[in-house]
Amino acid sequence: FVLGLFLCCVMRLVCCCSALLLLVLTPRVCQGGKILVLPGEGSHWVNMDIVLQALHSRGHSVTVMRSNKSWYVKEKAPHYNAITVQVERSLDESFVAPIVSETIAFERGSLALTNYLYVTIGMFGRFREAHEIVSELPSALPDNTELVTWVKDSKFDLLLTDPCWGGGAIVAKYFNLPLVYNVRWLLIMEAHLAIAPSPISYIPITLSGNTDKMTYLQRVKNMMLHIISQVQNNIIIRDIYQKVCEKYLGPDCDYYQLMIDADIWLLRTDFVFDYPRPTMPNMLTLIPNTKEIKVSLFVMFSFVCLPRHRLWC
Ligand SMILES: *[C@@H]1O[C@H](CO)[C@@H](O)[C@H](O)[C@H]1NC(C)=O
Repeated sequence: FVLGLFLCCVMRLVCCCSALLLLVLTPRVCQGGKILVLPGEGSHWVNMDIVLQALHSRGHSVTVMRSNKSWYVKEKAPHYNAITVQVERSLDESFVAPIVSETIAFERGSLALTNYLYVTIGMFGRFREAHEIVSELPSALPDNTELVTWVKDSKFDLLLTDPCWGGGAIVAKYFNLPLVYNVRWLLIMEAHLAIAPSPISYIPITLSGNTDKMTYLQRVKNMMLHIISQVQNNIIIRDIYQKVCEKYLGPDCDYYQLMIDADIWLLRTDFVFDYPRPTMPNMLTLIPNTKEIKVSLFVMFSFVCLPRHRLWC
């Protein structure tokens, strides 16, 4: 009888232990999320790709939505599956190369305010065109019923996007997915300014050359640059993304609200290079580790976006 009791106890212990072991092990198996990604092209893709590799190595399944004319985003890669949307135009080398060389030419000169205004206003037509091209993907998506059904059936956990291009917020809302940003720029505006308390007299605008300690005239310049990017942003939003938004999400949709309502903001910034400023609890800093920085100068340039240089970050 004693032996029976002892055996029974041992059995129970084994059961308990196995149950515990299962509890410990199972979540690891289930932890991998299903992530839908709407990336940007060029350097925006280079740093998004690093994030995707890290997600893949932690057991998440990554699906990248690209256009059939994607320039950097390849259809086949070991760390993600791709789904391809047919579009007429895409941001390819022939569109981007002239913009980059013009911008570099300006950046090599002094950053006088008149020069800056010339660049921003002169480049504005190009930026608008770029956004029009990018908005073709979210516009084309809902018409592709097969793809829409596939995305809905895939039951993704979230949508990860680079909001320098505005389509991600619309696609996330269309599929009712939580929205995560891998972000430095929110269209033309420095993303942090969009939702964090940002007194412009103390927060230097990128490319202003200012620091967090400004004279009166520097503050005036800072404010002017801020207003210009706000105006540009609003024109792009109203002309391009608000239209797509209303077409697919109903007439009440407010694109600006949709854009800043993202759930998590992974900021591509580094405390070493930025001035201290107030932030929001859903803004997390995505600091590249040194090994990744060494990958290429291009990547480092994409991450390290000093207030004086806003080129491709
Ligand atoms: C992409 O799709 C568009 C529209 O269906 C088509 O006109 C174009 O030829 C395709 N481009 C490539 C590179 O496949």
